[in-house]
This record gives sequence, structure tokens and C-alpha cells, in this order.
Amino acid sequence: MACRRADSSVIVLLMNVLITGANRGIGLGFARHYLAQGAQVWACYRSDPGGLQDLDQDRLHLLQWDVTEDKPQDFADRAGIAPELHLLINNAGIYGPKKAEGQRLETVSAETMHRVFDVDCVGPIRVVQRLLSRVLAGRGVIANVSSKMGSSADNTSGGCYAYRAAKAALVIVSKSMAVDLAPRGVRVITLHPGWVRTDMTDGTGLIDVEESVAGMARVIANAADYPPGAFVAFDGKIVPY
Ligand SMILES: NC(=O)c1ccc[n+]([C@@H]2O[C@H](COP(=O)([O-])OP(=O)(O)OC[C@H]3O[C@@H](n4cnc5c(N)ncnc54)[C@H](OP(=O)(O)O)[C@@H]3O)[C@@H](O)[C@H]2O)c1
Repeated sequence: MACRRADSSVIVLLMNVLITGANRGIGLGFARHYLAQGAQVWACYRSDPGGLQDLDQDRLHLLQWDVTEDKPQDFADRAGIAPELHLLINNAGIYGPKKAEGQRLETVSAETMHRVFDVDCVGPIRVVQRLLSRVLAGRGVIANVSSKMGSSADNTSGGCYAYRAAKAALVIVSKSMAVDLAPRGVRVITLHPGWVRTDMTDGTGLIDVEESVAGMARVIANAADYPPGAFVAFDGKIVPY
């Protein structure tokens, strides 16, 4: 990755970034952020490009990618993804049934457990498998967006079986990726975005998307300062798990 000065004040990052679940919420915020930094951005959406259609940018590449799909081996070649990726953000995620009713001990279904796990934990593995050679070539960073809800240490209120389990599993998966890939020049970090006002939280939360994304982008930029697989919140603080 290289830097170039665009004018007297702006440093442009010549980096290639791929973001999953980029059509709304935090993923769309990441797309906006890295486009503003001058990056080439591959912005993935499940079925509807949504807010990405409003970003008029020749450095923006839209890509349909449902992370529950098993894409063919040559998917990244056919999709025209750059041969070197400097940053891969596994952001796509679902909460599962929103009403506490659907994720209580007495009511959570096996189908809900499987579905949320498939998107939130298996999804990032599928994506990394298709992009690994590119991230290795770019000596890039993989940022896996989990949640404090996946921290055992933070769990004092119980419930939310599917979401907590899937995000906890992602923390461990991310740690294994970090251990496996550190000797090959790739840093892996696990992120907690904060409690953010998006569709997932029905617009409730303590911070907006811009604050969350700016904070996580700072953590990503400083990924080398954290141990491989560290679980870090948007404010730079380590999340105990
Ligand atoms: N908001 C928070 O406070 C908060 C806190 C902690 C962690 N997080 C995590 O941050 C990430 C982004 O959350 P958000 O608040 O921006 O949520 P959101 O507004 O609900 O957006 C979720 C995004 O994930 C995409 N997605 C869902 N299933 C997918 C699939 N199978 N394949 C590809 N994309 C899929 C959605 O696409 P569609 O539009 O097609 O459904 C959407 O773009 C998630 O991983 C979430 O768990 C959020």
C-alpha cells in the first residue's frame, strides 16, 4: 500500500479494500470512509445495492456477495477483484429474531441458531477462503466485525443465544486466523463497533455510524500495535473475552 499527496492537505491512501454487507449501516459507512481516503473499494451487498447506488465514484466496485453462498474457486478472478487486497472487512452480519422472545432459552430454535451462525461466523470464513491469496499478496489486514455481545466476560444479562454464540465463535475463528496468518505477513483483528444507530439496533444506540467507523478505521490503521487476533472496540480499548 502506498500514499500520495493529492493536494496540500490530503494524503490519499492507494489501497484496495473489500467490505461485506456494505449496502447499509456500518458497512456503508466503511465504504464512504475508505472512498474518501482515496482507496479502491469493492463494496459487497447481499441482494440490493441500497445506499451504495448514491455513491458516485469511479473507485467504487459493486459486487453481489451473499456470504452464505459457497462461491466457486475462481469467483474473485471473475469478479475482477484486485490481485492484492490491503484490507478485508468482514462486516456482514445478522442479529436474528429481534424480539427477545425469539432468542430466549425456552424459545430459541435450532433453525435460528444455525442461520445466525451461518451468516456471522461461517460467512467470514467463506469470504477469507475466496480472498486469501489476494490478502497474502497485499500483506493486508483482515478485520472481523464481532460484538461485545460475543464476549463471555461482558455477558451479565444472558439471553440472545444465537447472536451471542455466533459472535463469540467469530472471536475464536478470528484468533485462529490471526495465529495462522501472522507468520505469512497478514494481521487479523476483531472489532466491536460500539452500540451504533443502525437498522440492527432500530436506530437506538450511543453513537452514529460515522463515529463508529472513524474509530474502527483508527484501530485498523494501528493493527500492528495490537497482539494478533486482539478484540478491540471502536475507541481503541481491548475487549476482554
Ligand atoms: N449496530 C450495532 O450497534 C452493532 C454492535 C455490535 C456489532 N455490530 C455488527 O456490525 C456489523 C454491521 O452491523 P449494522 O449495525 O450495520 O447492521 P445492519 O444495519 O443490520 O446491516 C447489516 C448488513 O449485513 C448485510 N448482510 C446480512 N446478511 C448477509 C448475508 N447473508 N450476506 C451478505 N451480507 C449480509 C446486510 O445486507 P442486507 O441489507 O441485504 O440485509 C447489511 O448490509 C454486523 O456484523 C453486526 O453484528 C453492530
